[in-house]
Amino acid sequence: MRKYKSHKSVKNKKGEAVRQDLSLFQTAKNMSTVADKFEELGVIPVVVLNDVKDALPLAKALVEGGLPCAEVTFRTEAAEESIKQIHKAYPDMLIAAGTVLTTEQVDRAVAAGASIIVSPGFDPEIVDYCISKNIEVCPGIVTPSELAQAVKRGLTRVKFFPAEAAGGLAMIKAMCAAYTTVKIMPTGGISAKNIKEYLACDKIFCCGGSWMVKGDMIKAGEFDKIKEMTKEAVNLVKEIRSK
Ligand code: 3PG
Repeated sequence: MRKYKSHKSVKNKKGEAVRQDLSLFQTAKNMSTVADKFEELGVIPVVVLNDVKDALPLAKALVEGGLPCAEVTFRTEAAEESIKQIHKAYPDMLIAAGTVLTTEQVDRAVAAGASIIVSPGFDPEIVDYCISKNIEVCPGIVTPSELAQAVKRGLTRVKFFPAEAAGGLAMIKAMCAAYTTVKIMPTGGISAKNIKEYLACDKIFCCGGSWMVKGDMIKAGEFDKIKEMTKEAVNLVKEIRSK
């Protein structure tokens, strides 16, 4: 496994070698390119792929449904190869690697074609590693303390997970009243029923959700249904944004 470098040796004014903690000095700069595109789309399908054979039909359904993006979660063995195949077949599709829990997974996800790293919780090691490598990262947060850690590192986009269980819109509004530089991607419990309420809040840049790409539909090969539900999600975003 690759060794993560959390500090470097620098000289102080007296010429003595001192340890400098990289996480305190490196902050994210201009790292919101992919997140900006997510904001344009408004909703990101969160996908669990158990079988690589489903990757391309799923990507096709999403693209044809009007959402050329996906958060492919590293919860299954199939994730890495699925990202690779989707990226090759649909190079313009925005692929986030989700549920990234180690820096080794960061490397594998990026090599496969992911252009942003998403994690369920705030792991400083993963965030600092991504920043040091100029890899866009959108870590999960659920408390003001975690949000503070993200803000300190210059991040302007974070995931709020698990959104509904952790206080939903009320919690997001309360936290963002104090931390005004960040925008939030709530994920967990978002569906066609409540996405409009979330997107109506100016602190939210997009929502993540699995309702249009549920595992049972993927397993049953119901890609036409996925395409239709994707179109419906796109229409909900349009409706709320046209107001
Ligand atoms: C997840 O962790 O699977 C995502 O947050 C999606 O949650 P959802 O299934 O509630 O949309």
